[in-house]
Amino acid sequence: MDLKCIFSLAILVFQISLSSTQNVNVVIQGATSIAETDDNFVCATLDWWPTEKCNYNQCPRGKAGLLNLGCLPMERWDELNKFFNQSGVKVTFGLNALLGRNRSQIEKGLWVGDWQLQNARDLMKYTISRGYKVDSYEFGIQLSGAGMGASVEAEQYGKDIVVLKKLVKELHPDPKTQPKVLGPSGYYDEKWFNSFLEVSGHDVVDGGQFLNSMDAYASDDPNMITKIQDPSYLNQDARTYKGVLNIVNKFKPQSGAWVSESGGVLHGGAKDLSPTFVDRFWYLDQLGMASTYNHKVFCRQTLTGGNYALLSTTTSIPNPDYYGALLWHRLMGSTVLAVTQEPNPNLRVYAHCVKKKPGISINFINLLKDSSFNVTLSNYEHQSRNLRSTDVAKPNFEFRGSKDREEYHLAVLARNIQGQIVLLKDVPMVPIETFDIPAMEPKLVNASTPISIAAHSIVYVTIRDFQAPACA
Ligand SMILES: *[C@@H]1O[C@H](CO)[C@@H](O)[C@H](O)[C@H]1NC(C)=O
Ligand SMILES: *[C@@H]1O[C@H](CO)[C@@H](O)[C@H](O)[C@H]1NC(C)=O
Ligand SMILES: *[C@@H]1O[C@H](CO)[C@@H](O)[C@H](O)[C@H]1NC(C)=O
Ligand SMILES: *[C@@H]1O[C@H](CO)[C@@H](O)[C@H](O)[C@H]1NC(C)=O
Repeated sequence: MDLKCIFSLAILVFQISLSSTQNVNVVIQGATSIAETDDNFVCATLDWWPTEKCNYNQCPRGKAGLLNLGCLPMERWDELNKFFNQSGVKVTFGLNALLGRNRSQIEKGLWVGDWQLQNARDLMKYTISRGYKVDSYEFGIQLSGAGMGASVEAEQYGKDIVVLKKLVKELHPDPKTQPKVLGPSGYYDEKWFNSFLEVSGHDVVDGGQFLNSMDAYASDDPNMITKIQDPSYLNQDARTYKGVLNIVNKFKPQSGAWVSESGGVLHGGAKDLSPTFVDRFWYLDQLGMASTYNHKVFCRQTLTGGNYALLSTTTSIPNPDYYGALLWHRLMGSTVLAVTQEPNPNLRVYAHCVKKKPGISINFINLLKDSSFNVTLSNYEHQSRNLRSTDVAKPNFEFRGSKDREEYHLAVLARNIQGQIVLLKDVPMVPIETFDIPAMEPKLVNASTPISIAAHSIVYVTIRDFQAPACA
């Protein structure tokens, strides 16, 4: 018996032993969109940590830092750009926003004085001279609000980002190829963000960014595994997203809000969570929530390096989150649709127009370990588009498709959610010999059956014949 058969058999046995199935009706508001992301919503960071950065008695970063020295030599920047060019990514470069400042004598952690731009000027000039493309410059990191080990006052930061914007404009006079200026990339702090944007003005900051703050995630919190399967815990982040959205609506930066760095925060992520299947209950839920709250880009810390890497730091083999992110990138388009689902908060549902028309794509996350869901879909009547916002729009028709659905069922081997082997169509996903990612083909399912979401699984579904005027 080959390996594949053993795996399928294991799954079969477990499915039989599953206890219950709950019926859920999910209502998708296909008439209008509620938010819009960038075409490139899924993003991952590369960090500057040295190999010797260790926490919790381990050194998870390996040699995956962008450099292992104190500064970025030009040759390394050349090599990195070769990699960026070959992989076709868009690059955001994080600049050191502390350069030139000094520690305050009065307030601990605060850095004072004007930012010194010469180093950034040199980098940009060199980058331009070599024809490298930088999509955006991010100004500083973790310096807003109380900061993380260091902070800068909002007014000073606002003044300096104006200086950076001027520099970018001076060196890139063509608006079509001018990199964006993003900032402040730090924890959300309403008062600080407001003062910052008041000083910088509306047309300086292209994207307001913030760091996701699932505060206790990676620290050695033994309850984290339970928390990231708890819908009320996951929902807590909605407050931050809402707060940022309010500020964005008030100041209207040109490209909106980003999540600039998010992972299991603090010290490289959690060893037994971040690189395992259970992490995606959190990660994919964040992708869904961030897009629902009109965030344009969501950057995962990191592409490689640390326990929270999408690609294993030592072997470069994809961790479970990688496959979830890849399918999100391929299937979920930029237009976000409203979804409601009454009976069960343990089924998380996000719907977007599909990336490649026609139709919609839905992401389902089943947080329950012993219950599956049978999902039917409803759409709002299209006439109800014209109702006043105070009217209660009634989802009064059940959607019955006639075309087969395209379904991607992701589960984990032997139902061990702290395992690392992801199953698609019950087959383990492992890189093929040439090190390429295996093809991820959907299962075609007859539209007359409900969508089945197994316990502790992630399902992407594309429905080609769902009538959603917002996606036309
Ligand atoms: C990669 O570099 C080549 C040569 O400079 C250029 O023509 C091409 O557009 C670059 N590709 C990307 C994705 O930037
Ligand atoms: C920081 O301290 C150095 C050395 O004392 C001084 O030369 C410099 O002017 C200070 N910079 C600012 C921005 O205060
Ligand atoms: C789906 O199943 C129904 C009921 O069994 C059948 O009538 C229909 O032909 C099937 N549709 C397709 C596209 O196979
Ligand atoms: C769920 O759907 C499957 C497949 O259509 C069906 O066999 C099963 O009876 C359904 N379960 C419930 C509880 O409705």
